[in-house]
Amino acid sequence: MRLERLSLSNFRIYEQVELTFDDGIHVIYGDNGSGKTTILEAIHYLALTKSFRTKSDKHLILNQQNMFRIQGEFRSDAGQKLTSALAYAGSSGKQLTINGQKANRFSEYIGSVPIVLLHPADLSLSQGSPLQRRRFLDILLSQSSKLYLHHLIEYNRSLRQRNQQLQSATSRDPQLLIPWEENLIRNGVQLIEKRRETIEKLDALIKHYYGQLSDKDDSVKIIYQTNVHQKGDDDLEAVYRRLFEQKRPRERDTGTTELGPHRDDMLFLINGKPMKAYASQGEHKTLVIALKLAEFDYLQLQQMQPPILLFDDIFGELDAGRIRMMLQQLSNIGQVFVTTTSRNFFEKVQGFDAPTHYYFVENGNIAALAS
Ligand SMILES: Nc1ncnc2c1ncn2[C@@H]1O[C@H](COP(=O)(O)OP(=O)(O)O)[C@@H](O)[C@H]1O
Ligand SMILES: [Mg+2]
Repeated sequence: MRLERLSLSNFRIYEQVELTFDDGIHVIYGDNGSGKTTILEAIHYLALTKSFRTKSDKHLILNQQNMFRIQGEFRSDAGQKLTSALAYAGSSGKQLTINGQKANRFSEYIGSVPIVLLHPADLSLSQGSPLQRRRFLDILLSQSSKLYLHHLIEYNRSLRQRNQQLQSATSRDPQLLIPWEENLIRNGVQLIEKRRETIEKLDALIKHYYGQLSDKDDSVKIIYQTNVHQKGDDDLEAVYRRLFEQKRPRERDTGTTELGPHRDDMLFLINGKPMKAYASQGEHKTLVIALKLAEFDYLQLQQMQPPILLFDDIFGELDAGRIRMMLQQLSNIGQVFVTTTSRNFFEKVQGFDAPTHYYFVENGNIAALAS
């Protein structure tokens, strides 16, 4: 997928901007606070209808204004054009337009513009909270399977309802909880099975990439962890239902649903031992890069075209050599957007075969440089 044109209006620091992009690598450089990340945020917003920095869309509106709009013109590798726009106003909420038509269901659109983001917070993925790892999986799977996204939305809705019921005065009556539990089971089973299957695929990809990136002979592994434990050939739905019955008294006391894939995790092992306890910082970084490459491959295979890659300000964490190795691993680079405070940082990342374009950002103004 390729972003050919991006227009922003009243989006964060940008009042009006119109940019065109090509194949290859786009290096967006400028001082801190000049507006680099905002460009990647806009691309991310167009792809996933969300920012990666804030849950609150009103923060994205240029100060003193009452709405923002982002529009992107994309072209798929098969040559098909897609124009999508997202507008948000405090008064009327968020609106998605696809090829000039208002679209009501964002979930039908998500995945049309596949993207992979790498930003400094990702580098703690193997050491940070389970929430971060679940988010990684959910973003990947939401982009690659509309069915998964559907089950995820339904699951989260039922989870909120059951938690409300658990906290209400009538929570002693199991008959009021069971309908929500059945919804959770129906959708949760789908999430668990899809996550298990995907982690197996990612595991094979990570082993390959980690081997390519590391000069040592370490072996890495990802294990899927869910609290809906299945023993042997037990039926997952039956196990889930039985566990709900066992947990209900305790969950009435705590007022929250503890059972289910919203508490899932992924465990990373190095030579059979948990990375969290055994790996060096360098090994964690290599793992995260391998995971991002695996994400790229997985999406590329599902979508039959390379996703758009966004690298936000990773030069503080990763040296040029690591970034070069990462780009060299990509079979098909497609389109990449990189932000950095110094053009020199990127110039050290040579040694791959892709055109490079430079954009200079200063105080909410961005200009393409003649290459
Ligand atoms: N809603 C907003 N209205 C106006 N300015 C904003 C808004 N949100 C953020 N900014 C400003 O935009 C600037 C650029 O942010 P950012 O893109 O993160 O910069 P960079 O990545 O270049 O460091 C910051 O100085 C921030 O204060
Ligand atoms: Mg930034």
